[in-house]
Amino acid sequence: MRKLFPYIILIVFLKCSLVTLCYSQQVQNKDSLDRKWWKEAVVYQIYPRSFNDSNGDGIGDLQGIISKLDYIKSLGVNVIWINPIYGSPNDDNGYDVSDYRSIMKDFGTMEDFDLLLKGLHERGIKLVMDLVVNHSSDEHEWFKQSRSSRTSPYREYYHWWNAEQGKPPYRYSLFDVNHDAWRYDPLTNAYYLHYFSRKQPDLNWENPKVRQEVYDIMKFWADKGIDGYRLDAFQFAAKDTTFPAFPRGFEKNFNKYYGVQGNLHGYLQQMYKEVLSKYDVMSVAEGAGNTDEDAHNMVDADRHELNMAYAFDGVGIATPEGYSLLHFKEVFTKWDSTFSKKGWLSIFLANHDQARLVSRFGNDSPEFREVSSKMLTTFIMTMRGTPYYYNGDELGMTNAGFTKIEDYRDMPTLNEYQHQKNIGGDLQKFLKRIAFECRDNGRTPFQWSNTENGGFTTGTPWLQVNKNYKTINEADEEKDPASVLNYFRKIVKFRKDNLVLVYGKYAVLDKNNPDTYSYTRELNSKKLLVLLNFTNKNAATNTGINMNNTTVLIGNYEHPSKDGILKPYEAVIYQVN
Ligand code: GLC
Ligand code: CA
Repeated sequence: MRKLFPYIILIVFLKCSLVTLCYSQQVQNKDSLDRKWWKEAVVYQIYPRSFNDSNGDGIGDLQGIISKLDYIKSLGVNVIWINPIYGSPNDDNGYDVSDYRSIMKDFGTMEDFDLLLKGLHERGIKLVMDLVVNHSSDEHEWFKQSRSSRTSPYREYYHWWNAEQGKPPYRYSLFDVNHDAWRYDPLTNAYYLHYFSRKQPDLNWENPKVRQEVYDIMKFWADKGIDGYRLDAFQFAAKDTTFPAFPRGFEKNFNKYYGVQGNLHGYLQQMYKEVLSKYDVMSVAEGAGNTDEDAHNMVDADRHELNMAYAFDGVGIATPEGYSLLHFKEVFTKWDSTFSKKGWLSIFLANHDQARLVSRFGNDSPEFREVSSKMLTTFIMTMRGTPYYYNGDELGMTNAGFTKIEDYRDMPTLNEYQHQKNIGGDLQKFLKRIAFECRDNGRTPFQWSNTENGGFTTGTPWLQVNKNYKTINEADEEKDPASVLNYFRKIVKFRKDNLVLVYGKYAVLDKNNPDTYSYTRELNSKKLLVLLNFTNKNAATNTGINMNNTTVLIGNYEHPSKDGILKPYEAVIYQVN
């Protein structure tokens, strides 16, 4: 024993220093990567109204989601973003909140909410909620008080313009039938401001009391245990309350006048200090302002504002006539470089405000629907930034195929139809446009099975189920190992197993190729090559990488291309050796 003693000491010493070494290496890596759970997350967005109806009233609800928790877990996603579920008269499907601390009756009760959150957390899934505070509902108590008299203590919670001053300078409304954002209210002979619908009056963020109310609401939900906020339309919150006149025609580029104005960054810094810094929550704002600088400043960690930007340039690219892949590459490459050193981005091609992923960016014909869905999913899961994936896209759900205005439920679409009618617009052309881009396309009920109403409800669905539920549905895709759904699971797992896809440097290759998108992701000594064919024909890539030095890791065809010549909508990920 005495003889062994020095050796034991030596071994203990070596082991300790090895552990210290490994640990400091890890810490170093951790620091240099600035690892965060929300960067490594895959966010799955649930549109509660259309996900699953538990009680046959035709409207999805919280119990409906609860009964699908194991399905959600099986996807491999680890953050859920749920659209608004608060008390609301539903002018804009919950984006008009009348009570920020209650649950919408259609969706259930606070007990249901608590169960949902518990069920998610038990499965290791976090919950991000919408925070809709650019505006409230006109049925919110604050607005009822505010409009009741010019001297109400709530008057300054909203923006009012007294009529004796004449008509206020024109402001464009996105949702109003006349696109006029000022609504005259005879009760106090004044106009109130609404960037969205008349039932969505804008809150006055310049009023410190409003800000305090919002922070209290945020704390209420954070204390319940939620894991983050998606700040709805927040880039519009700050306004110049002197309401100067804007140049004629400004509405064609209204974001320039509305996005990230005044003291918005100051409000975000205050929100960070009062709420965000006190909890382990993630924060993402819808919209990224007008310039790279706006976006960057919102999410530069040193400035203490938000965690990640959610920029629209990407989703705006698709048109009914198609889109240019060169433009697509340019946009995503530019956004990557904006955050290459600091800040963080969301990666998405669809959400509840868009038509379906495969119908807009892929090819929803029977021949190519599955393969092009998988290709687009491969793109979303292999870019730097946090992927956001919209429910139903994992099945390759398609646009609704609506032909008449009566099929639609979306308030701004119905208002715009009325507007077109009023101005003698071309209604056929309008119907054609909305068939491609109306957000109801992305809101048709989730297709669970080939039974009536796609298994979404036993009643009458609030919005028609897509007629193709007999061929596109979850139950059938479960059984098929090569389904869009099972590919989604595989690629989500692949992302989670490959940290290089989260943090690795992105570099675009073969940039001027109009048919294919090729890029590498590189971290330390690991390098992956992603090749994507965006066309329905074979396409060659010219990346400058010798394909003999690569190994196929995963692809959307049974026999992935080894030589870089891609089959229609083929997606392949290679390891570069
Ligand atoms: C955001 C939401 C959208 C909503 C609007 C008004 O853009 O994503 O669904 O209609 O804000 O709240
Ligand atoms: Ca229901």
